[in-house]
Amino acid sequence: MEIKDNVALVTGGASGLGRAAVEHIVANGGKAAIVDINEEKANDVIAQLGDENVIFINTNVMEEDSVKNALSVIEDKFSKLNFVINCAGTGYGARILGKKGPHPLDIFKFIIDLNLVGTFNVMRLGAELIDKNDPDSDGEKGVIINTASIAGYEGQIGQSAYSASKAGVIGLTLTAARDLARHAIRVNTIAPGIFDTPLMQLAKDENKVALLETTQFPHRFGNPKEFGQLAGHIINNSYINGETIRLDSAMRMTAK
Ligand SMILES: NC(=O)c1ccc[n+]([C@@H]2O[C@H](COP(=O)([O-])OP(=O)(O)OC[C@H]3O[C@@H](n4cnc5c(N)ncnc54)[C@H](O)[C@@H]3O)[C@@H](O)[C@H]2O)c1
Repeated sequence: MEIKDNVALVTGGASGLGRAAVEHIVANGGKAAIVDINEEKANDVIAQLGDENVIFINTNVMEEDSVKNALSVIEDKFSKLNFVINCAGTGYGARILGKKGPHPLDIFKFIIDLNLVGTFNVMRLGAELIDKNDPDSDGEKGVIINTASIAGYEGQIGQSAYSASKAGVIGLTLTAARDLARHAIRVNTIAPGIFDTPLMQLAKDENKVALLETTQFPHRFGNPKEFGQLAGHIINNSYINGETIRLDSAMRMTAK
């Protein structure tokens, strides 16, 4: 599909990978709705890209009514939705049995709720609005892109909640593509390696050094712009469907 003159809902669009996706959409002539809880950071993006191109809708992806509200604002403002790019998410580190005892159950549930259930929530409600579109010249109505992580394949020590949530997003991809095929909506997932974003800046220096060592070529962390470019390619290339694409410089995470 073409990005030009089309509309994207980007969760987590105020920061990091989501922000890079918003920048890519606008650079290619599209409009974007930042669906996020961080108004201050969203306003930075709007100041950079212009309020005629980007809107912010304060939304918690874990809540049904909040996402329904975001979609009705998008329908009012832009009259349509073509792309959902799910980037809202976070991590948490604790061993299943740590020095302070078992992994907190409420935090495990929170990470699954945000990273997996939140992705599903926005996907299912977003698909309903995308389905209202007339198909384009290739017969497509829209594209959904979810964000997993290579931790969904090779979770490190202390990443049980995060890797389980991201493995869930990977597992959802083919089923979602099959479910939504009859609606002419493609679904794909990007599994990033390590990208230099505010989320990664929370990691301890010693962990960052170890992660950097396992990058192959280019021997560096990813630039969020490269995530935006891949999201753009997935949108443009009609034959990519039901796939999870690693974006990781051939790194494989080790146990620590
Ligand atoms: N940065 C990396 O190296 C990396 C690697 C693999 C996967 N990922 C995944 O990519 C996604 C984006 O990560 P990032 O590095 O850009 O993080 P980030 O912290 O820079 O951005 C995440 C955004 O999500 C928003 N958010 C958090 N909870 C929300 C909620 N309940 N509702 C709506 N918005 C909410 C935050 O406000 C923030 O703007 C995450 O799912 C993360 O797990 C990141």
